Amino acid sequence: MTAPGGHHGPHSPHSPHGPHGSHAHRLLGTGSSWRVLVFIAACVGATVCVVFALGYGLFATHEMASNGLTLTSGVAARIALSTSFKSMHEIENAVRVREMAYDLHEFAALRNLIMCAGHTVYKGTSYDRDSIANESNWVLERNQVGQLPAYLAHIRTSVELAAKDPLALLLFSGGQTRRDAGPTSEAQTYWKTAQAFDWYGLNARDSPHAVSHRIFTEEFARDSFENLLFSVCRFREMTGHYPDHLTVVSFGFKERRFRTLHRQALRWPAERFHYVGVDLEPPSKALIDGEQANAANLFREDPYGCDSPTLVAKRKGRNPWLRFMPYPDGCPEIAEIFVQCGRVPFEGPLPW
Ligand SMILES: *[C@@H]1O[C@H](CO)[C@@H](O)[C@H](O)[C@H]1NC(C)=O
Repeated sequence: MTAPGGHHGPHSPHSPHGPHGSHAHRLLGTGSSWRVLVFIAACVGATVCVVFALGYGLFATHEMASNGLTLTSGVAARIALSTSFKSMHEIENAVRVREMAYDLHEFAALRNLIMCAGHTVYKGTSYDRDSIANESNWVLERNQVGQLPAYLAHIRTSVELAAKDPLALLLFSGGQTRRDAGPTSEAQTYWKTAQAFDWYGLNARDSPHAVSHRIFTEEFARDSFENLLFSVCRFREMTGHYPDHLTVVSFGFKERRFRTLHRQALRWPAERFHYVGVDLEPPSKALIDGEQANAANLFREDPYGCDSPTLVAKRKGRNPWLRFMPYPDGCPEIAEIFVQCGRVPFEGPLPW
């Protein structure tokens, strides 16, 4: 192959630079010096290539670390990014170490999730039954006054359901939603209530299936959609897999919201979704109207609760302790749902 102007090399008498040779020839005086110059230029070029390659290597490692955010979990990526650039192998090991800390095997046999949606937080200082049953010890919004007996019935019903199904994990779900109650979650106060009532006499103490061993908390949800999504994530975090069956315990008049809107937003199969509605008295017209106007209609337009100013404001208002949620750590397979927004249902792959 002939380079441009090939046979008119620097030594050619027909060089465009005339009889005195090229500029380089004149400068260096001899033909071999020209070769030295070419050699130096090649070296500089090669160095640029090496630097480029190293830079790309770092970039690629960084990319791998970023992908780790969705592929493995946010934890891994954070570990990777905070301690400069680690290999994928190191990231995977770090995830394994984190998972070992949870001892997933203890709950790996559990297949079904029962989720009891919290409504408020107990602010009393004593967890004796009389204090718990006294409505003035709970932080209640105006439209919640008179509903404590129903909340207590939700707690009891969930424990009864969990006691009947030895493969069930019961999660009380609800965040630190009330400033006046202190930095305590709805889930914690529901759990302590069930404990105060001695698990309603259903705890077979010596059994490995004892119901109290299978009752845990989901402590970040701020609305009913988050109750569902976060509890599914928490189930995965604790058991290493997603539930077969999902049972929600809450008010009967909220069934349509959970069963159609929230379930469909997660594309959870209808035949593996169950709802146990507990109302102690028929809901008033005001309650039903409020459910339509303040929740159902809003979630219908905004199934993930991220667009509607009202739903967004509710989430803010229900996080007075400024807690930052840990999810989707613990459920990397569904990480994308946590950033899904808009009316169109999530279309990506799902593990159920
Ligand atoms: C409920 O608690 C309030 C405030 O602590 C107290 O004044 C009231 O007597 C209690 N009611 C009952 C029935 O114990």
